[in-house]
Amino acid sequence: MDVLVVDHPLAQSRLTAMRNAATDSGTFRAALRELASMLVYEAARAFEVERYPVTTPVAPAQGTRLANPPLIVPVLRAGLGMTEAALGLLPESHMGFVGLARDEVTFEPRAYMESLPGDLSGLPVLVLDPMVATGGSLVHCCQLLVDRGCTDITICCVLAAPEGIARLENSGLPLRLVTASVDEGLNEHMFIVPGLGDAGDRQFGGM
Ligand code: PRP
Repeated sequence: MDVLVVDHPLAQSRLTAMRNAATDSGTFRAALRELASMLVYEAARAFEVERYPVTTPVAPAQGTRLANPPLIVPVLRAGLGMTEAALGLLPESHMGFVGLARDEVTFEPRAYMESLPGDLSGLPVLVLDPMVATGGSLVHCCQLLVDRGCTDITICCVLAAPEGIARLENSGLPLRLVTASVDEGLNEHMFIVPGLGDAGDRQFGGM
């Protein structure tokens, strides 16, 4: 699995704001939105383009557009905070939604929503979720996509734990990961260390 770490000063400064426990919800959401733009921008370098003719006010020119804009799939709740940025950069894209909550005892994901096109063959998918902790949530989400025929999945996340990356890798699913950081690891509560806490709670409040 390809892992791209976006080690850019602007991305890292937004990540730092998100890590800081003193950052309020509004600032956290703004930092996530801006960071998501940078992650999606970097992810899109690998997207296939096609050329087409346009006419400038001066002369004919060759234009460029995405050959196959990806389906954008945020993992609820936390992935919602990355959606506006992704849609802003990919206005031609359609969206699907997957709702998952991690069980606090077993740490396995519980699915509560699945709103996806039935046939994803030939359509790349861009999955948005700020956190890859154990990787269970993303493996579950990406398996839903592959079950619908998807063969090309890019995950944009803010933080990934090595344990989660290993689980994604071992899943054998057709994945690429774009992240702002690979952190040290997981603690006994399966929280990423040093991490940023719970990205859903920090954006929207506790459940
Ligand atoms: C968090 C996070 C990921 C998942 C990561 O969501 O946004 O979806 O946990 O953990 P994993 O890699 O161990 O599966 P959470 O379940 O807290 O739900 P929320 O987004 O509604 O807060």
